[in-house]
Amino acid sequence: MRKKIVAGNWKMNMDLTEGAELVNEIFKGLPVLSEDKQVVIAPPYLHLTQTASQLTGMIDVQLGAQNCHSEASGAYTGEVSASMLKSAEVAYVIIGHSERREYFKEDSTTLGKKVNQVLSNDMKVIFCCGEPLDIRDAGTQNTYVEGQIKEGLFHLPESQLANVVLAYEPIWAIGTGRTATSAQAQDMHAHIRSVIAAQYGGDAAANMTILYGGSCKPSNAAELFACTDVDGGLIGGASLKAADFLGIIEAMADL
Ligand code: PGA
Repeated sequence: MRKKIVAGNWKMNMDLTEGAELVNEIFKGLPVLSEDKQVVIAPPYLHLTQTASQLTGMIDVQLGAQNCHSEASGAYTGEVSASMLKSAEVAYVIIGHSERREYFKEDSTTLGKKVNQVLSNDMKVIFCCGEPLDIRDAGTQNTYVEGQIKEGLFHLPESQLANVVLAYEPIWAIGTGRTATSAQAQDMHAHIRSVIAAQYGGDAAANMTILYGGSCKPSNAAELFACTDVDGGLIGGASLKAADFLGIIEAMADL
């Protein structure tokens, strides 16, 4: 059975004190989760060792990173490699977030290399895809997202795909307060699953966790997560407030 996941992407927010407090607050309110459910917290790099020590012994909550470099090591000033993340007890790495694609010009070739770095260091990838508003308005979002998935992931053998989680994040919904409707999310998630099935077969598709991201909050999480092909969420803004993040985790816990 595929896992349900709620992952918090703090982006470039929180100093170390605020981050430690947020994690403590989340712990205080964390509901009991069944084995098929997982929470991921992805703070900025600087927080990782601190957050890792707070998470020691936790199974329900795993550590995530927001990015890694595409090469294994070397003269890349300011960058962080996948093996460094592994040594900091990171379990999941977000790759291909639309902000990375847009502001840091990360293309499919780079993203494919990053995916390989994460997987070869025995961590899991949260691979983001999603269309901008003009593509949605033109009605070509399925082809667009399919292209992102093929270019970033289809070089992988099926055995590796088991360590990939997908996150569908329509760019027009990220940080805008404009969420995709549950019908829009379900349609795209079903499409993504069919794309995986066509390449890797029905079992691989059925086992693939596909998260929704984009203005997900406690008030809409239950409806989104109730969709057949939506297996949880990648949460930005609402992951920065313990009460909101816990509200979203509750929506997953109730499934
Ligand atoms: P948001 O961000 O929840 O603030 O819309 C989602 C994301 O970018 O992962």
